[in-house]
Amino acid sequence: MALVLGIETSCDETAAAVVDEDFHIHSSVVESSIDLHRAFGGVVPELAGRAHVATIGPVVRRALADAGLEPGAPALRGIAVTSGPGLIGSLLVGLSTAKALALAWDLPFVGVNHLEGHLFAPLLESRDLAWPVMTLLVSGGHSLIVLQRGPGQHEVLGETIDDAAGEAYDKVARWLGLGYPGGPEIDRLAQAGSSAALKLPVSMIGEDFDLSFSGLKTAVVRATQLHADVALADVAASFQAALVEQLLRKLRQALERHEVAGVALAGGVAANSALRAGVTALAREFALDVHLPTMAMCTDNAAMIAAAGLYRLDASGPSDLNLSARPNWRLADVA
Ligand code: KG4
Ligand code: ZN
Repeated sequence: MALVLGIETSCDETAAAVVDEDFHIHSSVVESSIDLHRAFGGVVPELAGRAHVATIGPVVRRALADAGLEPGAPALRGIAVTSGPGLIGSLLVGLSTAKALALAWDLPFVGVNHLEGHLFAPLLESRDLAWPVMTLLVSGGHSLIVLQRGPGQHEVLGETIDDAAGEAYDKVARWLGLGYPGGPEIDRLAQAGSSAALKLPVSMIGEDFDLSFSGLKTAVVRATQLHADVALADVAASFQAALVEQLLRKLRQALERHEVAGVALAGGVAANSALRAGVTALAREFALDVHLPTMAMCTDNAAMIAAAGLYRLDASGPSDLNLSARPNWRLADVA
């Protein structure tokens, strides 16, 4: 059984995992440095990079041990590592580690696009899913609508032209004086609020599939300045309703234009309760399978990187040892 070690260090999670060719997860370890960043209201790149340096060794060792592998010379098919997009200092820690281990253990290694990794997350939980799948990939750094014809065969239909969905959550939360990351907090507050309290715009309702959340963020700031008496839960509910509405409208448009067998959510914002409910309802309406990753598979982890790496090792072959990190590597440019 071919096993791949995955390594992920693109943002604030230091993660390692072992996955087999049938996409069974043998181990998955995730350490987050989020507590270091909270006081600053967002991830501080330098702190994240230093935390990765301290954590990557123990995390890889634990992933190998949990999978029952020999720490000195593990029987692996190869090593997969996120080589972009992400924070340059953070990416370099994972990439250098993967290269060093590949050299020491005489194994092939492959650089994986972090967003392609997110696209493999649903596959780790529903292995026999029917293709094609329309995927809404929404995280702290990216928001895309992707038509997937099979594993690793993806066409980006649209993406955000400004803020990512998670970024909008985090910025609005910061404006409201809530903690970081803001998504889970706003989601929790919204459940007790009224979405009719504030009238907020649902932007980008044209014919294309591009997304935009910057106007909504500004509208929340203006509305809360004008109506300072509106309860926090009501602001949260109004903002969440407008943001989810935009995502669902675009997803609906994509489903009307492209025939698919299923619809999937991926990325950190896929943990959102309103979005999960909305996508489930949309899938039912279009009579499609729905793939909602568990919370652990929504957020950054290395199992999804190992899965994408398994595919890439076969489809594109191993990477060269002089591979560079690509902080702005777009999914549309993945060959
Ligand atoms: O995919 P992820 O773990 O990291 C990136 O690659 O960006 O996503 C993190 C993002 C953060 O912006 C966080 O606020 C958001 O996901 N998030 C949520 C929820 N849980 C996490 N946003 C909305 N509702 C949630 N329940
Ligand atoms: Zn991510």
